[in-house]
Amino acid sequence: MKKTIIYYFSGTGNTWWIANALQQQLAAQNHQAQSYSIETLTPENVLEQVKDVNHIIFGFPVYGSTAPKFMINFINQFPNATNDQSASIFATQALASGDTAYHIGKMLIQKGYSLKQTMHFRMMNNFHIPKFRFYRPKNDYRVDKLHQKSLPKVKKLALAITNNQEHIIGKNIIDYLLGNFQRSHIDKVIDMISKEFKIDSTHCVNCGKCERICPTQNIKKCGDTYKFGDNCMLCLRCYCQCPKSAILIGEGTKNEIKYPRYKGPEKYFDINVLMKNNR
Ligand SMILES: Cc1cc2nc3c(=O)[nH]c(=O)nc-3n(C[C@H](O)[C@H](O)[C@H](O)COP(=O)(O)O)c2cc1C
Repeated sequence: MKKTIIYYFSGTGNTWWIANALQQQLAAQNHQAQSYSIETLTPENVLEQVKDVNHIIFGFPVYGSTAPKFMINFINQFPNATNDQSASIFATQALASGDTAYHIGKMLIQKGYSLKQTMHFRMMNNFHIPKFRFYRPKNDYRVDKLHQKSLPKVKKLALAITNNQEHIIGKNIIDYLLGNFQRSHIDKVIDMISKEFKIDSTHCVNCGKCERICPTQNIKKCGDTYKFGDNCMLCLRCYCQCPKSAILIGEGTKNEIKYPRYKGPEKYFDINVLMKNNR
């Protein structure tokens, strides 16, 4: 039987939701897949896991038409393909991103994988701060509506994987131009915005959640406050999940009506699921 693994990174939960839905759709088609949040893995774990796997699926949120650094590093360190291993890429996004999944797919092609599917899923936006007002995140029925719209695409991707059919999006010139334009700015944007993170000490209750959930261990307790290091990839997990909205990205974000934090893809979403494996 064909063995498949899903490796995903998710900052605020959307990509986790799609990875889960895909795993369920594959199972419904008698195609067993295990999914792993890459935050929980060591390179040794991965080497052991991929040895006898036929198909590998990578999922991540779009950051300016590319993947988060965490996922790019993971793929850079990923072993080269042996025999006839194939790969799919899916990305979650708020609106549009051009060729993101295909762009990252090319990294896998270089590693010898046969790229079979690329897919984008529209999910709730998590990126709405004073300098980048995409559109306001909503934590209500609109999240479910996006899920309902995504599900047929998840099913389509699962079918294509099960039947080994090629389904590549993002290969045309328009997608490439949009993607390339966004990619040429994103590193500077991340660098600039990550320097604006600070703690609102009038609201912080010193619970330590931000330090505990940061995927790059970039937040450290310092006396009775927290300091941000230089390793932020702008996943916005700390910003969205702080129970007191005490993490600010610019003074304007004190106003929670104008800058609501995205709380994740389900009403009872628990951020800890991203730090566990979902087998
Ligand atoms: C730094 C950053 C950059 C983003 N860039 C884009 C983008 O270029 N296009 C887009 O449609 N969404 C963009 N988004 C929105 C996210 O891709 C989207 O909300 C995603 O589903 C979040 O997934 P997650 O909850 O798994 O982290 C961006 C979000 C962040 C934090």
